[in-house]
Amino acid sequence: MNDIEVKLKAATTTICFKQYVSLPGDVVVTDSNLASKLSEFQPIIVPAGEKSKNLTEYAAVLDQLAQRGAKRKSRLVAIGGGVVGDLAGFAAATYMRGIPFVQVPTTLLSMVDSSVGGKVGVDTELGKNLVGAFYPAQQVYVDAAWLKTLERRQWQSGMAEVLKYGFIMSEEFAVSLENNPMLDSSDLRANETIRACIELKRKVVEADEFETTGYRAILNFGHTVGHAIEKLTHYETYTHGEAISVGMVIEAKIGEKLGITPTGLSSRLTNTLKAHGLPVNSPTTADVENIIQSMRGDKKSVQGELSMSLLTGLGECKLIQDIAESDVREVLSES
Ligand SMILES: NC(=O)c1ccc[n+]([C@@H]2O[C@H](COP(=O)([O-])OP(=O)(O)OC[C@H]3O[C@@H](n4cnc5c(N)ncnc54)[C@H](O)[C@@H]3O)[C@@H](O)[C@H]2O)c1
Ligand SMILES: [Zn+2]
Repeated sequence: MNDIEVKLKAATTTICFKQYVSLPGDVVVTDSNLASKLSEFQPIIVPAGEKSKNLTEYAAVLDQLAQRGAKRKSRLVAIGGGVVGDLAGFAAATYMRGIPFVQVPTTLLSMVDSSVGGKVGVDTELGKNLVGAFYPAQQVYVDAAWLKTLERRQWQSGMAEVLKYGFIMSEEFAVSLENNPMLDSSDLRANETIRACIELKRKVVEADEFETTGYRAILNFGHTVGHAIEKLTHYETYTHGEAISVGMVIEAKIGEKLGITPTGLSSRLTNTLKAHGLPVNSPTTADVENIIQSMRGDKKSVQGELSMSLLTGLGECKLIQDIAESDVREVLSES
């Protein structure tokens, strides 16, 4: 498969559809689940899971880089899912004011989404991805062979972001997944689907790299509510994709209530997510005020108002600002 070039101001990322080969001086960062497969690289190891995407682990990676004598020209190679990519990417962005960064995404979610577009960072108790930078990888090595060992739940989590691309950007793509769900990595469409998602993300991030016009914010469909759910459940209960699945359903319902999303689209979305084994109701929705409070603190909210990227049709999405809390409260209470 041909490479895809993502041309950004911060740096051009070449997405290579082949195996990563290490160069002398590379420092590999991975998580505790993958470490045994990567012992040849003597990697820096962070504990697996979203809870590791924090300032403590970030500082530990910086310390290990220094202890290993990493220099300004050393490449930091993140081999793992979105957690490793976001955390190690932020370390690469800041160690010695920035060292070359390479990503080898090993989950579906990180192949289709987190390894493309330059956002790196960590969570804090006060917010998801609250601390970070725009620091695109120079190269991303996408190799679907990694997916063979991925647990079903993690495949499903990645499918939440895949379905997001369809519902916000491509009616044809959404309808094909609605009619024929992709249930695991043995699906023969896996490679072409990963490539299609990367192309869709490329289009958005090249047009609005630093999220200044609101266009890139369409990628946040489901994330205003989803991030609030992740934060309230201390990044433990849901995978990122599962939280986003619940968030997309609630935000589609909010869109319908406001007359922005065509009636019936939230049901189609709900059924498609369910068919992919994803959750569509959250037990925390009983905790309506906490979710609203948490959303007020979300980076995407402008001056305390609630803002969300809402579907304007199947395959279309737009950032909507000044959403009344009363409408959000009503939908959350019904969910
Ligand atoms: N930077 C961005 O633009 C962006 C975009 C979307 C999501 N994200 C972030 O990505 C993170 C989620 O990424 P994720 O879903 O990849 O989570 P993850 O990195 O936690 O990986 C999920 C699980 O899969 C395991 N795993 C990884 N590769 C495997 C393989 N090949 N075989 C078996 N197990 C494997 C991991 O050890 C982990 O337990 C979230 O923090 C989210 O905020 C970032
Ligand atoms: Zn996401």
